[in-house]
Amino acid sequence: MTSGPVRMLASDIDGTLLGDEAAAERFRHTWHALNRHERPLLVYNSARTADDMLSLVEAGLLPRPDYVIGGVGTVIADMGVPGPLQAFLEELGPPFEAQAIAAVMKSIEGAVPQPQLQQLPHKISWHLPDAPETAINEIARLFAASGLAVKLVYSSRRDLDILPPAGGKGSALGWICRRLSIELDEVVVAGDSGNDCEMFEMPHVRGVVVANALAELRDAASLHRRHFLAPSCHADGVIEALRFWGVLR
Ligand code: GLC
Ligand code: MG
Repeated sequence: MTSGPVRMLASDIDGTLLGDEAAAERFRHTWHALNRHERPLLVYNSARTADDMLSLVEAGLLPRPDYVIGGVGTVIADMGVPGPLQAFLEELGPPFEAQAIAAVMKSIEGAVPQPQLQQLPHKISWHLPDAPETAINEIARLFAASGLAVKLVYSSRRDLDILPPAGGKGSALGWICRRLSIELDEVVVAGDSGNDCEMFEMPHVRGVVVANALAELRDAASLHRRHFLAPSCHADGVIEALRFWGVLR
């Protein structure tokens, strides 16, 4: 089940492919050395905006991907087509009304909105230090009670992302796979923190947890034997996983 060909690598960026310059350079060389017609599709799956990810590519820090998923699974861009994929945006529904979200969040002690730069049409993000699971469940209950359908993603013991139910890194990745008819057991995902958990919880995908990953991802991933705990940090861990699953020989 976990030994089939790898047709797609979907990787987080910060803390995964980036974080160690020398390792990122090794990843670029490794990726470029693969045969363009035979290597897996490359997808970046990040909280960053699509434009921001493309500027990392233009700066030569990362290889050119085939797709980018931005805003914690709330925007998808196909590198062969200008602009975001409208069909995915339509699945997310209308953009959030920030005021309606703020009205629910105002009763949460310690919650502070993230800077405006981090807010996107379908991603409203707050800082909420050291919230236990019960606190996040309570916030979910408040949203449900106020009639707002949201998905909450809490990570790094600080970041709370409020997304549409059809958003999230895993949901967006699943959407691309269905569109391309790629089976989930042909996908390798890579990450380092809690906003990556949704990718690791998708059925059948193989995941690489880089050695510097936070416990929140390590613990979630350790529930499934199909995931790989890389011995090395950052991009070196991703390279190890590509070797482990036979993409690199
Ligand atoms: C990045 C984003 C932030 C988000 C966090 C977790 O740090 O800048 O807005 O909350 O990732 O997804
Ligand atoms: Mg990360």
